[in-house]
Amino acid sequence: MNDHAHAMTLSERADALEEHMTHELERIVIKSALFNLADGKTNDDTGEVLARNPGKFLVMKEDRRLPKMPAKPTLIDYFKSRFTSTAHLLQSAALAKKAGHSEKVILACLLHDVAVSGFIRCDHGYWGAQMIEPYVDEEISWAVRAHQALRFFPDESVGYQYPEAYTKWFGPDFQPEPYVVDEYKRARAHKYYMTGRLITLNDLYSFDPDAKVDLEDFTDIIGRHFKQPKEGLGLDNSPSAHMWRTMMWPTRFL
Ligand SMILES: [Fe+2]
Ligand SMILES: [Fe+2]
Repeated sequence: MNDHAHAMTLSERADALEEHMTHELERIVIKSALFNLADGKTNDDTGEVLARNPGKFLVMKEDRRLPKMPAKPTLIDYFKSRFTSTAHLLQSAALAKKAGHSEKVILACLLHDVAVSGFIRCDHGYWGAQMIEPYVDEEISWAVRAHQALRFFPDESVGYQYPEAYTKWFGPDFQPEPYVVDEYKRARAHKYYMTGRLITLNDLYSFDPDAKVDLEDFTDIIGRHFKQPKEGLGLDNSPSAHMWRTMMWPTRFL
């Protein structure tokens, strides 16, 4: 090994690549605190990054590493250009359709994990419900919120059992937080309980990587039940438009 071939650790290599990418971009990307927290970092390195990139401006709109979004994006554009994994959503919706459930239930299944796909995992049912709330029937957003808690609790009457995958992922001793237990009890007594429950029933925990479901299969249902804002999803002034904008421009400095 010569002197120049310094053996970098994996994280050093990742940092170097990130640094390289920052330099390659016309504008500088500063990560949000949340992105840094996900890397176990609690510091803000804005000052250092700016010092290393004199004369460059910060990202204040598009992040050119991401697919370009149209001027007036629709829900389908987010599916195609922002959501990191759509197979799970599509397969869950396909299962609900095959079982003959209502269009509201099918759309609830199609959207139940939008937060995981495009935004954040922790408390994804709550985030997802908020994201879609202004654009769908309250039964749909209620069900998306409730599935966060319901999926941890079996309901023998419809054949829903505690997912084996959860035992594998979280360990046999995992217990939901008390706020989740309380949410479950409230949901159990709610008039839309079964809609939320049907999300969990059609939620595929071990989905088939080979099954192909097209988003086009659901275009009509989206058209009938998702109120697409004329300004573009995220560019309207709904109470959750900012959440869609954040997915569209996740590295905008402010
Ligand atoms: Fe979920
Ligand atoms: Fe899911």
